[in-house]
Amino acid sequence: MSEERSDGRQDHGNLRGPVLEGPGASDYERYLRTDELLSLQKPPEEQVHRDELLFQVTHQSSELWLKLATSELHQAAQWIEEGSLGPARRLLHRAALALEYVTEQLGMLEQLSPWEYQEVRRVLGHGSGFDSPGFAALRKTLPRLEEAFERRLEETGIDLVTLYVDAGAHDGLYQLAEEMATLDARLQGWRVRHYRVVARIIGDEVVGTQGTPVEVLGRLVHTVAFPTLWQVRNELTARSQREGG
Ligand code: HEM
Repeated sequence: MSEERSDGRQDHGNLRGPVLEGPGASDYERYLRTDELLSLQKPPEEQVHRDELLFQVTHQSSELWLKLATSELHQAAQWIEEGSLGPARRLLHRAALALEYVTEQLGMLEQLSPWEYQEVRRVLGHGSGFDSPGFAALRKTLPRLEEAFERRLEETGIDLVTLYVDAGAHDGLYQLAEEMATLDARLQGWRVRHYRVVARIIGDEVVGTQGTPVEVLGRLVHTVAFPTLWQVRNELTARSQREGG
């Protein structure tokens, strides 16, 4: 039997005490492993600049979102291979959303003073985003996704232009193609924003911690993961112009 307490909450026995195993005073801390999580940033006495916390939190949380995105993309690729296009689309959407968050977080780095960041930069060693495990893992999923999509298209017996012209007749595949284009656009959007942030903080005529000139990052913004999904738009415009006279 629950009883009314003086603070108005129902007392159902001791619902606040932990029942899960592990370190931490509450089940919240035990389940989320907050002890470990919150010890993964340098304590103030080890920081060369207090903005190291901002820098580490932004990068660490990006790695977590990229981990989720990669997991969703692996499952999405498997579902496309098995023909479950709707469920695959949902996961592609989640991955695209995760990339949006990672892009949005770059705004936090714009809060760094370009001069004070130089202090942080000195303690990064050869640390560079090129070695980001999150981005490396995510990138590895892309060829499998592309291949799975192309196999589906082949099995349907149509080419990409026909898929877009007759979208209504192939709705599942068309929606999938568009979700993949969104994912690609988010990736490209991240690159553009990252380049702008880098240029704002360290400049656009310098080299990075691994020796890459920042202008190379500027050129990378044109890279796409699914080129055929972008090329088809050129073909549709050309076809429309041909047919229109
Ligand atoms: C103060 C903020 C940042 C600066 C100044 C910066 C700077 C750079 C520079 C100069 C490069 C070229 C490689 C090199 O020589 O180091 C690079 C590459 C890269 N950075 Fe950053 N970065 C910052 C934040 C981030 C964040 C938050 C992420 C997210 C995890 C990230 C991910 C990457 C990736 C994935 C690359 C490889 C380029 C690509 O694949 O397009 N960076 N960064």
